[in-house]
Amino acid sequence: MQDIAGSAAFISGGASGIGLSIGRALAAAGAKVTLADIDQAELDRVVPTVPGAFGVRLDVRDRANWQTAKAAAEAVNGPTDIVVNNAGIGPCQNPFADMDPEDFDRVISINLTGVYNGISAFAADLRSRGRGHIVNTASMAGLMANMNLGGYTAAKFAVVGISEVLLKEMEPHGVGVSVLCPGLIQTRLGETSLALGNKPRERTVQSASAAGLDAAMVGERVVAAIRAGDLYILTHGEYRPIIAKRSALLLEAFDRTPASTA
Ligand SMILES: NC(=O)c1ccc[n+]([C@@H]2O[C@H](COP(=O)([O-])OP(=O)(O)OC[C@H]3O[C@@H](n4cnc5c(N)ncnc54)[C@H](O)[C@@H]3O)[C@@H](O)[C@H]2O)c1
Repeated sequence: MQDIAGSAAFISGGASGIGLSIGRALAAAGAKVTLADIDQAELDRVVPTVPGAFGVRLDVRDRANWQTAKAAAEAVNGPTDIVVNNAGIGPCQNPFADMDPEDFDRVISINLTGVYNGISAFAADLRSRGRGHIVNTASMAGLMANMNLGGYTAAKFAVVGISEVLLKEMEPHGVGVSVLCPGLIQTRLGETSLALGNKPRERTVQSASAAGLDAAMVGERVVAAIRAGDLYILTHGEYRPIIAKRSALLLEAFDRTPASTA
């Protein structure tokens, strides 16, 4: 999608970190930006710092709230062209065998069902208007498996899969799709995850993400990917050998599979 200037963008989880960085970069590219977030206090603090931005409270788990937030945004900015499904919480870092059901349900409801809810609210409109772009925030944890990230990994692999499905379905209608798969980025993810129910006893990503890359870079990468129509948006080149090894293992499994006679 080349014509970002003048387009309307809606970003969930837009009050902080990666979502805010994407909002700033889209606003700098001339988009009319809506920052949607569950954290009203952070919205109040950051919306005035993003040129022309509109803020609206949204819990991505709440489908009725998606409709009211969408209506509020579109009353201000007109029909939405760019949807960024970015809101998320971090992992509960414990073995999957020990993961509490409520922790699993929480991460799936925000990081996966929240993405579905955003697509459900906007994608058919984009398709019928024949233009636009959807960005879904996954993670490197959507492309590779790590110990102690089981529920988070389940959600993020699914977000990658959904994005690949959506591209096939939407591209013929003029709508692009990208999936953002960052490694560690300096954000408030640990802090916001605790506020939303992750347990303090768990080592959160907060300490780890303090060593991550600057979030400002991510927004620039996302704007470039929207313009280029890139499906995968990667930010951390050091993971390439791990993804190559996983891909090689999959291909080796095909080598052990009898050739199809069909
Ligand atoms: N920071 C990292 O290292 C990293 C790496 C890979 C992927 N990610 C992903 O990036 C996305 C953004 O996270 P971030 O790192 O910028 O963290 P962040 O905490 O700084 O920002 C996340 C925002 O989402 C909001 N949010 C959480 N639950 C919500 C809900 N139910 N409804 C609406 N808003 C909600 C929070 O209030 C917060 O403002 C997440 O999906 C996360 O999984 C982060």
